[in-house]
Amino acid sequence: MIHIDLYEKWWITLTIVVLVAFTVAIGMSAFVSGIQVPLPEARVNPNTVQQSGDFSSPGLKQLAPGKYEAHLLAQASPWKYYPAEIRVPVGSTVTFYVTSADVQHGFKIQSTNVNAMVLPGQVTKLTHTFDTVGEFSYECTEYCGVGHQNMFGKIIVEPK
Ligand code: CUA
Repeated sequence: MIHIDLYEKWWITLTIVVLVAFTVAIGMSAFVSGIQVPLPEARVNPNTVQQSGDFSSPGLKQLAPGKYEAHLLAQASPWKYYPAEIRVPVGSTVTFYVTSADVQHGFKIQSTNVNAMVLPGQVTKLTHTFDTVGEFSYECTEYCGVGHQNMFGKIIVEPK
């Protein structure tokens, strides 16, 4: 049996405890808190994404009562999201499909766990249920040029 100094034993034990704690924390955040890794849902051609397909007329579409999907296009010059406003009744579950027509953008909805990169050529998919009435702004979280600070929009969650 190899001799391990007392303090070294403590540090080895502490390291193992920290590793276990972090692993449990990852599991809890994924399965209990529902923190989701944004998945690349599909590939699109950023040069033609505005001409045809779901992003040629971006916006909200109702799939069933309380279930929606929203296609959003992020674009630099002018620095905007299309659409810049979405209205849903409270309790709605919205699946967002977001892509970029040009450079790398971000998409973060305040007070939710929706926060992802928006990459040209890739469709990012995120789902959120809006349980409270109010306004939830979304904004670009990646510096994308001189108009970056103008890239925002809002989701208005209305009473039923
Ligand atoms: Cu788009 Cu910053």
